[in-house]
Amino acid sequence: MDTISRRTFIETAGVAAAATVIGAEAPKQEETPQKPKNRIIVLPKLPFAENSLAPVISAETISFHYGKHHAGYVAALNKMLPGSKYAGMTLEEIIVAAKADQADAFFNNAAQIWNHTFYWDSLAPAGSGGKPSKALSEVLVKTFGSVENCARLLAESANKRFGCGWAWLLVRDGKLVIESTSNAETPLTEKDVKPLLCVDVWEHAYYLDYQNRRAAYTQAVTEKLLNWGKASFRYAKRTV
Ligand SMILES: [Fe+2]
Repeated sequence: MDTISRRTFIETAGVAAAATVIGAEAPKQEETPQKPKNRIIVLPKLPFAENSLAPVISAETISFHYGKHHAGYVAALNKMLPGSKYAGMTLEEIIVAAKADQADAFFNNAAQIWNHTFYWDSLAPAGSGGKPSKALSEVLVKTFGSVENCARLLAESANKRFGCGWAWLLVRDGKLVIESTSNAETPLTEKDVKPLLCVDVWEHAYYLDYQNRRAAYTQAVTEKLLNWGKASFRYAKRTV
């Protein structure tokens, strides 16, 4: 590269670099719609140690489930977001918008991220999840007969889900209900529905520990690992 060409190259590169920096901070022309800032969707930390749910759920299952599956959805979504209409949205906004758009790839990855985060927050090491608050306990007894029967019905709903999906304890229109959703479907897309607890019934949630015995997994999880303390907090927050 001769001297003139080299100087031109440096000057051109300098202008381009400056434009990139300035352009990223503020669009100069009103007719140019401001592009949303890119947002990185972050994998939340597990609220417990990987080995702390054993023997109900092994550290190996948690390691794969959180470190490969949950993290995989985060990586996939972050790869798709730049330049898309969903760039810059929160995770919840992506889920609602992609559902409305029938943008399955965005919806599935985003909803699976949210569902898994909610699942980890629905569980606690045995003996540390607390009991339902007085207010939640009263409505659980009124609705399902007992707290234990609610847990049993949640497991039953999970067992009946054909294929992959989720079982949920929800507040729907002010009433407690147990329902299940398929694949990545999430109650987050519905109005007047507030989830309290969920159980993941994708095979990756239990196959290393229970193989085909889904009912053994759902029974153990709902009897020993549900985080009733957080469910009570959510119930109070959503009904006050
Ligand atoms: Fe999962």
